[in-house]
Amino acid sequence: MLRLLNPAAQEEDRENSLRPRQLEEYIGQESVVANLRVFLQAARERSEPLDHVLISGPPGLGKTTLASLVAQEMGVKLRTTSGPAVERPIDLLVLLNTLQEGDVLFIDEIHRLSRTVEEIMYPVMEDLSFDRILSKGHNKGARTHRIPPFTLIGATTRAGSISSPLRSRFGILLQLEFYKESELMEIVGRSARILGYSIEPEGCRQIASRCRGTPRIANRLLRRVRDFAQVEAADPIDGVVASRALDRMQIDRRGLDRLDQKILEVLVARFRGQPVGLNTLAAAVQEDPANLEEVYEPYLLAAGLVQKTHRGRQATRLAFEHLGAEVV
Ligand code: ADE
Repeated sequence: MLRLLNPAAQEEDRENSLRPRQLEEYIGQESVVANLRVFLQAARERSEPLDHVLISGPPGLGKTTLASLVAQEMGVKLRTTSGPAVERPIDLLVLLNTLQEGDVLFIDEIHRLSRTVEEIMYPVMEDLSFDRILSKGHNKGARTHRIPPFTLIGATTRAGSISSPLRSRFGILLQLEFYKESELMEIVGRSARILGYSIEPEGCRQIASRCRGTPRIANRLLRRVRDFAQVEAADPIDGVVASRALDRMQIDRRGLDRLDQKILEVLVARFRGQPVGLNTLAAAVQEDPANLEEVYEPYLLAAGLVQKTHRGRQATRLAFEHLGAEVV
């Protein structure tokens, strides 16, 4: 499809322009990055590829960015695909055949690999061998393809959905966390510089405190705040302009958007703080359960607004207070 008409490709282009190009430019995730630096240096000194890496965490925290920085630091090429795209074993073999020694293969949403492909990955990850059975033709029988030494980087929003045989084959496990406000301010400031906007620290703080701890959301809000500032001829973007723009986009003071707010309203007002099953909640807010669980819920849990019990999701006292409702 023409890039101009492809929204996913456009979104990716917009994100790419703001991604750090070197590990030194990466802001936040301090302990993850510090450990990764050690593993990278050690692998480089031994002239070996980095061990396989599993990166987990909610969407928008920089999993893809980290994978591209690993390739950059190792001075190798990055090949990117995703779990659902590798449908058949042959798709995997085609990808593996494009790898040169030391390259990084990045599989996003690795928890969505089919069972068959996942099982073929085990010997690939362990012994660099791809076992294939040809059932037809004159050369039928078992074949083993040799794969050059490489690094697999898997990313997942659902660490719990990775089977233990797959997880145990990763030598490096990195868990990304929501970013702190000070880190997000730095990220917003850096993005504004790259995009050529001028923004005051209070403007950065408004966005940083209302982006659900997520750089991808911060960068998106920055562009929209800038639209309001431009139309109102407000230059530089100060705290008042940013705050007004965020209010107009219905982002509340905790950074919750309309869907987050709807989730809390349902838990507080309709279910009065009683536990609710995921599917019931998803139906009540008219959202896909997987999206609710992987995209929305992690922040509400981390912010202490929702808690998960064995009987379902439940609004906390903080959620009642946030909505100005009487605690039951
Ligand atoms: N842009 C998005 N995420 C970033 C990060 N972690 N560091 C620097 N710039 C970013």
